[in-house]
Amino acid sequence: MFTREIDFESVGRSLQLKQEVEGDVGCVVWDAAIVLAKYLEVREKGKRKLLKGSSVVELGAGTGCVGLAAALLGASHVTLTDLPELLPLLKINCAQNTPNIHGVAEVQQLTWGNTHQIQAIEVPDVILLADCIYYGESLEPLVSTVRSLSSSTTTVIMSYELRTDGNKPELQRKFFDLMEEYFTKERIPEQEHHSTYRSEDILIYEFRKR
Ligand SMILES: C[S@@+](CC[C@H](N)C(=O)[O-])C[C@H]1O[C@@H](n2cnc3c(N)ncnc32)[C@H](O)[C@@H]1O
Repeated sequence: MFTREIDFESVGRSLQLKQEVEGDVGCVVWDAAIVLAKYLEVREKGKRKLLKGSSVVELGAGTGCVGLAAALLGASHVTLTDLPELLPLLKINCAQNTPNIHGVAEVQQLTWGNTHQIQAIEVPDVILLADCIYYGESLEPLVSTVRSLSSSTTTVIMSYELRTDGNKPELQRKFFDLMEEYFTKERIPEQEHHSTYRSEDILIYEFRKR
């Protein structure tokens, strides 16, 4: 394992995230996760605060970067979720960062589309996703999970990396088509992202239930 440290200067604290040298895609911190975590930091300093005292669910959390950033920045309850094989690493990262975070952060198994597991999670104020438009077969279950976990007051914030290889452009287009049946969407302009942790290839969108 090797550790990635991500600083949050505005609160004078950092996350220490363990990553694995070998394993599935969820074992490392993806750039889209760092861009989203740092955008959350910028947002908490501005007028459209999102996290203070809120409940948060992160889907496809991987190492937990985004959800743990939310917990560090003031969320009161964060549920980090992923497939069963990712949970050991997620639990290590959750425990390691607990001294630095506000409120409670916990780890739960959630395979997208699993009704039983979805029902075990309370509808949160905020849903976070980083780089989850990745797998053709799980696109519809992902959207149905976001939909089931959202109320009319839930804010969904998602980042992803624009990819041009294989079927990725098609998957990304299909994801937005599915989401827009149930959600309004707003692109967060790049100039509102963190001034250093931004890239023209990494987009952030905010969704709300119609
Ligand atoms: C590209 S990784 C991104 C990880 C993390 N969000 C980040 O950006 O660093 C995609 C994540 O989605 C998770 N994932 C993939 N299919 C899933 C499914 N059907 N249900 C739940 N999680 C899934 C993977 O295990 C992985 O952690």
